[in-house]
Amino acid sequence: MRYVLITLCALLLAAPVLAEGKIVIAHRGASGYLPEHTLEAYAYAHAVGADYIEQDLALTKDGELVCLHDVTLDKTTDVAERFPDRKRDDGRWYAADFTLAEIKQLQARERLPKRFPVGKSDFEVPTFREAIELIQGINGSTGRDAGIYPELKQPSWHAAQGQDIETPFVAILREYGYDAPDARIYVQCFEVNTLKKLRHEMGLRAPQVFLMGDDPSSRWLTDEGLAEVAEFAEGIGPDKQAVEKDPDLVKRAHARGLVVHPYTARSDAVPRKYADAQAELHAFYFEYGVDGLFADFPDHAVAALRAP
Ligand code: G3P
Ligand code: CA
Repeated sequence: MRYVLITLCALLLAAPVLAEGKIVIAHRGASGYLPEHTLEAYAYAHAVGADYIEQDLALTKDGELVCLHDVTLDKTTDVAERFPDRKRDDGRWYAADFTLAEIKQLQARERLPKRFPVGKSDFEVPTFREAIELIQGINGSTGRDAGIYPELKQPSWHAAQGQDIETPFVAILREYGYDAPDARIYVQCFEVNTLKKLRHEMGLRAPQVFLMGDDPSSRWLTDEGLAEVAEFAEGIGPDKQAVEKDPDLVKRAHARGLVVHPYTARSDAVPRKYADAQAELHAFYFEYGVDGLFADFPDHAVAALRAP
């Protein structure tokens, strides 16, 4: 019996002690370590204990959802070298002009300096399905239950190209079991009309987060604006500077039943006002009191929650 108790105590001490209810969102996967929006970056994020793993989503020419932060391909792939003649007049290469088979020929690469070396190893642009199947697969093999945190990128831009990004998105969420209020997902978007459409026209029941910037004059940051957000979303995802400018925002959002998930903590670009990355993470989680944070280095955010 004594042995059993000692073992139980050891297990409890070894278990992650995340501050209750607070979450870590791996921003574009563990993008501080591996090229953003690659299966490798998602797997690493899962391994270091992220609660949710983000996918930004755009459509290909043939209507497939792929994980890309931009509607263009040139900042995060070698498209300019492989398809030099396929740029538009503005000098950019758009995912909407390429089939999935063509996008699969590209090498995904790091966007930011001093991170994963460009041109090394071999990375693909994943589809949304591949990302989900990877995360659900690791959930099954580890017993952890990491969620997904998909963002629909520029739905109105897609519509102007004649593309409907919402319909295939909702179909995939339903196919993979994410259309429920308690599903391990947050759907995010900067476009209010898309979130309203998903909830009120398409009947999507998954939790939603409305993304916003840090403009203090935005009506969405007022009490009236937050009350309106609560009609179609369960949370807000403000630029983290919106919280720094008005720390009361977190309490005001909570008062309307909204969680607050600011973006983005970057341990290799910590603002001067904080001593180091942990100081910034602690400030957001425990002084400002946010419920979750998008983090490029999700292991650092997990560490902050383990040692409040
Ligand atoms: O979606 C939260 C955050 O990722 C928004 O910024 O530009 O990195 O998609 P962005
Ligand atoms: Ca995003």
